[in-house]
Amino acid sequence: MDLTDFEWRLTRPARMKANEFEREGRLKHVIFAQQFTRQLLDKLCVMADMIRELSRSKQGSDDLRRLLSHKRAMLYFTQPSTRTFLSFMAACQILGITCNEVRDPSTSSEMKRESPLDSIRMFSSYFDVIIMRSKLPDFAECCAYLMNELERQERRSVPIVNGGAGTDQHPTQALLDIYTIQRTFQFDHREHAPRSRFHDLRRRYTDLSLGPDRKVYAFCGDLGRGRTVRSLVELLSLFEDVTLYFIAPEHETLKLDVDVRARLVKAGVDLHEFDSLDATIDGVPILEKIDCLYMTRIQREHNSAQQESEIAALDLSHFRLTTDRVARMKSYAPILHPFPRDSVVQEIPTEIDQDPRAMYFRQARNGMWARAALLVHLFDVVDDLYLLYDRAFKEHGEPSPRGR
Ligand code: NCD
Repeated sequence: MDLTDFEWRLTRPARMKANEFEREGRLKHVIFAQQFTRQLLDKLCVMADMIRELSRSKQGSDDLRRLLSHKRAMLYFTQPSTRTFLSFMAACQILGITCNEVRDPSTSSEMKRESPLDSIRMFSSYFDVIIMRSKLPDFAECCAYLMNELERQERRSVPIVNGGAGTDQHPTQALLDIYTIQRTFQFDHREHAPRSRFHDLRRRYTDLSLGPDRKVYAFCGDLGRGRTVRSLVELLSLFEDVTLYFIAPEHETLKLDVDVRARLVKAGVDLHEFDSLDATIDGVPILEKIDCLYMTRIQREHNSAQQESEIAALDLSHFRLTTDRVARMKSYAPILHPFPRDSVVQEIPTEIDQDPRAMYFRQARNGMWARAALLVHLFDVVDDLYLLYDRAFKEHGEPSPRGR
């Protein structure tokens, strides 16, 4: 089998493919954001909270480490990664999964002209899950088809988890983004919003609802090639009454992809596009209207020579945060960024980091809990997690940090 064998499957609509990546109502492979349902997202957020709470004590951490101590993971990251790689590794360690990595294909047999699919099949011989990042947008999906084909032949087949596919999708980043939004608008987590602040907010913003529903989200930067945005908007479209603002420079490559736009409109999302953070809507500055701001960097590594000079000529100051701009935002509106931020362009200058709305470092840490929850789901040990949690917080009469 080689990659061309799977070509015809790639162009099918996401909902057709999604069934093939599930087993008995549970995800087997995680390839794109459209595989998640609202119900699954809610469950994963609860589980991420449970893992976080259990990890606070030595007993809880030891118990968690026994959950999947019989499993091994391959982290196959042939594209640069800091947060996704490390948070998946940390998530594996939390659950006792042994990790191994291949980051540089020149150290693997691909140098001896081994095909990428042969490499993947070899990884599946030694490991129980393959978490991967590739610059090829379809590669993870093809690997999932390979695993399905092996399963059909009753051979060894392991889950494939997409940790970033070219400029296409980054479903687990979107999962941690939803988890961060969910927690921010829970208002009952001390590190996100002290209780006194919550009461103050509820007084000032009487119609502010809990969770991601009924909110205005703004995305700013490289929306055409930012895979985190492409995946997150798919997940946000599952929530009620969301309004999405897209703020991108006037350049075809940087603006929201027409297909993504069409899908969102079809899903009933209220969507508006702007060419500056200072734009207004009905005479009101958009910065004053948004409940959550998602900043992104310009993905220069994807530029062609022509794009390089065209994009260099753009005035990017309209897509940078300043303390003045942040001052105009609602006092609770979180500022998210998948990171890395560009230290030259400075779409978020470091002086914003002190602002209580700067959520990007917590967002990155949330990746660890959200990805651990996803692994618990993939390896079907959800009931064991609940048992651990009940034993730790209910049987000893301790107040449960998270009501279920
Ligand atoms: C993002 C990525 O790799 O797509 N980073 C991440 O995974 N946290 C965003 C980016 O590279 O701009």
